[in-house]
Amino acid sequence: MNKLYKNVLKKITPSKKEKMLEKKIFEEIEKKIMKIKGKHLNLEWCGSSARDTHLHNDQDLDLFVMFDRELTEKELEKEGIKIGKIVFKGKKWEKAYSQHPYIRGVYKGFDVEIVPSYKVKSGNDIKSAVDRTPFHNKYIQNGMSIEQRKDTRLLKQFMKGIDAYGADLKNCALPGYAIELLVLHYETFDNAIKEISKWNTGKILLFENSNEKNAEQFKGTPLIIIDPVDNNRNVASALSEEQFQRLVYAAKKFLENPSEKFFFKEKTKKLNKNELKKELEKRELIAIKSVFPKKILPDLFWGQLRRFLKKSETHLGEQDFIVERSNLWSNEKEVVFIFTLREKNLQKIKTISGPQATDEENSKKFLEKKRKIVAGPYIKEGRITIDIERKETESKKILENFLKEMSKQEKESLKIFCKKAKVLDEKEIIKHYKGEFAEYLTRYIKGKEIFE
Ligand code: UTP
Ligand code: MN
Repeated sequence: MNKLYKNVLKKITPSKKEKMLEKKIFEEIEKKIMKIKGKHLNLEWCGSSARDTHLHNDQDLDLFVMFDRELTEKELEKEGIKIGKIVFKGKKWEKAYSQHPYIRGVYKGFDVEIVPSYKVKSGNDIKSAVDRTPFHNKYIQNGMSIEQRKDTRLLKQFMKGIDAYGADLKNCALPGYAIELLVLHYETFDNAIKEISKWNTGKILLFENSNEKNAEQFKGTPLIIIDPVDNNRNVASALSEEQFQRLVYAAKKFLENPSEKFFFKEKTKKLNKNELKKELEKRELIAIKSVFPKKILPDLFWGQLRRFLKKSETHLGEQDFIVERSNLWSNEKEVVFIFTLREKNLQKIKTISGPQATDEENSKKFLEKKRKIVAGPYIKEGRITIDIERKETESKKILENFLKEMSKQEKESLKIFCKKAKVLDEKEIIKHYKGEFAEYLTRYIKGKEIFE
């Protein structure tokens, strides 16, 4: 195996000791749970640690408490939570949510999830979304060689390195299971990267028990990986078009010049303040800075932030600004939206074109509307045209007004976000140019991906 991969694997493979500890913890918890009186049948160790495809330092154990299919969902939930609380008695734990609430806690340094699940006949026969997981386990356990487990770790770390790992709303990328399937499908890491570099949007990956027909229901998504244990599920459903394109691009760049920086991010060399000033003179940037509220699940708020960025951009567009680029950054404490505008300020005059001059009735209606006409009506390209004055011409003011309005309309976390938001002009951007944000802004200005 090539030296680069060997070096990366050294850093990302859990040690024998770690793996033994995982096994010990599983057995300990299993014993504990089987002693509890209740309706559970057994405990299954799932997730990447059970399949030996996990990464060093990602110490999570996904444990599934299995119940009979006949149990009601209410009872399943109640039983699952009861068991979880007993397991973590005296330890740190919290309620987490997937299709059902369940308990997650820290056990001897590991993040352990105790997920209640129905024992069903096959992945096609599931009652709750989590019921597929034990089948994923079996599928990977049966189909994957030891070498391929190494290749899975490499591909997971590659995805991590380029910020394309995880099916959550922050990353909008691929979950661990999808990466395992990619390695099974393409056999090796090398080949997977080669094939990924040739993908086009709408790519379909099928396994032995699915066909093109199963993929039809997912048309319009950039990547379709039909789950071999349930052909009504696309394992890559969370992957956004943007992330799909970044992944293919990164694979191409890696093939041109393979290096560790694709696996482990290098620190971005920040522009100094003078360089930043010079760059800002060449473009019109405006930013919104606010807080990442504490009370909401981070994953949920990432989704809301993305939508709100789009909404802000749309508002700027409706006010006649041309937004050339926008992006958001957050370390889950602070949030910054950045917009590159064609022009920072608009002219006072706004031209509005009305109906064709010969259309008397509608022209009359057009001119009767209450607004202060400062020039016209005149005929331009055959249409009745007027000039009026804008109330606001500065992008900063317009964004400030927008945030004020949205702080009334939005609810809960976004409301807090809007209330605490501050619009930064270039001077203020320079003032806030520090730490992680400075690295991010440097990349934004240079137009560089994290792996470049
Ligand atoms: P995890 O998110 O812990 O993933 O989900 P993982 O496979 O253990 O990978 P790591 O932890 O990132 O290395 C546990 C299991 O839940 C199912 C999969 O079967 C996964 O193995 N799952 C999770 C899904 O089916 N879809 C998802 O989006 C997430
Ligand atoms: Mn896991």
